[in-house]
Amino acid sequence: MLRTHTCGQLRQSDVDQQVTLAGWVDKSRDHGGTIFLDLRDRYGKTQIVVNPDSGAQHLQTAKDLRGEDVIQVSGKVSTRLEGKDNTKLATGEIEVLATDVQVLNRSRTPPFFPNQEELPGEDLRLKHRYIDLRREGMQKTLELRSRIIKSMRDYFAEHDFIDVETPILGRSTPEGARDYLVPSRVHWGQFFALPQSPQLYKQILMISGYDRYVQIARCFRDEDLRADRQPEFTQLDMEMSFVDADDVMGMIDGLMAKLAHEILGIQLPTPLPRMTYDEAVTKYGSDAPDLRFGMQIVDCSDLARQSEFRVFRGAVDAGGFVRGIKVEKRAAEFSRKRIDELTELVKNDFGAKGLAWFRVEEDGALWSPISKNVEEPVLEGLKQRFETEPGDLILLLADTWEVTCKGLSGLRKRLGAELQLYDPSQMHFSWVVEFPMFEKDEDEDRWVAMHHPFTAPRAQDLERLEDDPQACRAQAYDLVINGYEAGGGTVRIHDSEIQQSVFGLLGISPEMAADRFGFLLDALGYGAPPHGGIALGIDRVVMLFGGLDNIRDCIAFPKTQRAMDLMTQAPGDVEAKQLGELHIQVETPPAK
Ligand code: AMO
Ligand code: AMP
Repeated sequence: MLRTHTCGQLRQSDVDQQVTLAGWVDKSRDHGGTIFLDLRDRYGKTQIVVNPDSGAQHLQTAKDLRGEDVIQVSGKVSTRLEGKDNTKLATGEIEVLATDVQVLNRSRTPPFFPNQEELPGEDLRLKHRYIDLRREGMQKTLELRSRIIKSMRDYFAEHDFIDVETPILGRSTPEGARDYLVPSRVHWGQFFALPQSPQLYKQILMISGYDRYVQIARCFRDEDLRADRQPEFTQLDMEMSFVDADDVMGMIDGLMAKLAHEILGIQLPTPLPRMTYDEAVTKYGSDAPDLRFGMQIVDCSDLARQSEFRVFRGAVDAGGFVRGIKVEKRAAEFSRKRIDELTELVKNDFGAKGLAWFRVEEDGALWSPISKNVEEPVLEGLKQRFETEPGDLILLLADTWEVTCKGLSGLRKRLGAELQLYDPSQMHFSWVVEFPMFEKDEDEDRWVAMHHPFTAPRAQDLERLEDDPQACRAQAYDLVINGYEAGGGTVRIHDSEIQQSVFGLLGISPEMAADRFGFLLDALGYGAPPHGGIALGIDRVVMLFGGLDNIRDCIAFPKTQRAMDLMTQAPGDVEAKQLGELHIQVETPPAK
């Protein structure tokens, strides 16, 4: 070994020991002929002192060092001079008096330094990820990720789960995103699809009797990327036989309690609270509500119906809703400019037509540029409905159900953060259950599965499947943490006839079903046990447990918003010969 200790290891109790450390030069300061170096590795930093006693040659070597050079230092551990302790460093009570300094490798001037206060732009960080990963923040997050994954593996091993790997080259699995395709060289014109999830394989494993399956699985989805989405991400994927929804949720409750205890040091009471989908969208406008604060949605459609005000009346007459939220006691913080910004947010991001607002005056009256358009009894009704107090601010949207949900949920999210309505270090875990089986595809007038086509309806909804699909609720459950969907799963259909009829409803013809999922339909016919499972997004779990707001900071080598790896420059061109072997011709791409 080129070192006896790491740079985070030495303490007062090691004083007088002869040690050798190796690492990167984090900082160097020349104090009139004595060089102070901060030597860094993944475990921490140690102060090295090189002075004339170290020998002229070593002193010169130290003087010539620059940030990010890799060195090896030997010397004696010594107590720092009185008053020179650094309480911010774990090794801050000691320093190493160097007797030998060797350069293991020089560094060119890096595009940025791992210890610089202000982070450079993300593109630069991603292009030089090897430097970025030297930053303490990134190292802490990747360590956290590793600990979370270990806890997960331990938990499922303790509960008799068997870890089975499933193929990366397979056939399309319908999770609702676009597939990444891989051309087959051997089979001219045919393609593998990278898995959007191991969904079908894990169901097959249940049919084969592996009644508790788990896998840390890589998934690929070619979809629009956001701060919480990557084209390539990792799931904690699990499936169980002879269970109902409560059993699967109970298993994950236990996992969350273990993670909360081991990672955050808190006792998480279980079972985690549950809310139905209908309640979530009615009260919070979202199926993944942030429950760290209140600000519930209030429906005023009946009041709006009594008004002649064009905006209110028009919306309800068109079958829409007037719904709103209340900001308690802080109307004074909302200038016209700030309200204009919120109006732009709901218009641009959520397709709302406008934002109506009322300030509650000292005397309790509702003031707004539109209050003269709204009749007195309606204003009175709003006051009662929102239980207003002086200083409150009411924000209303008059629109379709969907737009009021999205807009108010967006407003709620933004205001919750801006007004600091919760403690950001606090975490809230809950389940949202009983999702609709189907939703209408926005562009085409057809049903699509809200989760995926293998989801079982609730037993009491089986009969309604054909004549009232909209009313059918699924045996589905999402794990929600701080307003993010951290995981989702369902009890599956284990009867091939029901599976066929759900395919039918989704417009998947028997021929298409046989072509794409024939193996599943066949397998369901050979003794399929009742089964269900869930997948948690590990990148998102790490983001939430780490208190971060960007999934890219939780992945060692992530892709940009434009689905590129800036370090390796993937995707890239390939040789004409490779394309020829695949019988693929590429249309001339537009000039870059
Ligand atoms: P679902 O599609 O809900 O379910 O995915 C499960 C969880 O994976 C995470 N996730 C993502 N994370 C990062 N980037 C993405 N693009 C991305 N997409 C999803 C989310 C999500 O909750 N086979 C089913 C699971 C099952 O039914 O058992 C599935 O994949 O945290
Ligand atoms: P207008 O007459 O369209 O300018 O609207 C009058 C006021 O009502 C403005 O403050 C708009 O922001 C607001 N408003 C317009 N449409 C809506 C709507 N659909 N929901 C809520 N407020 C609206």
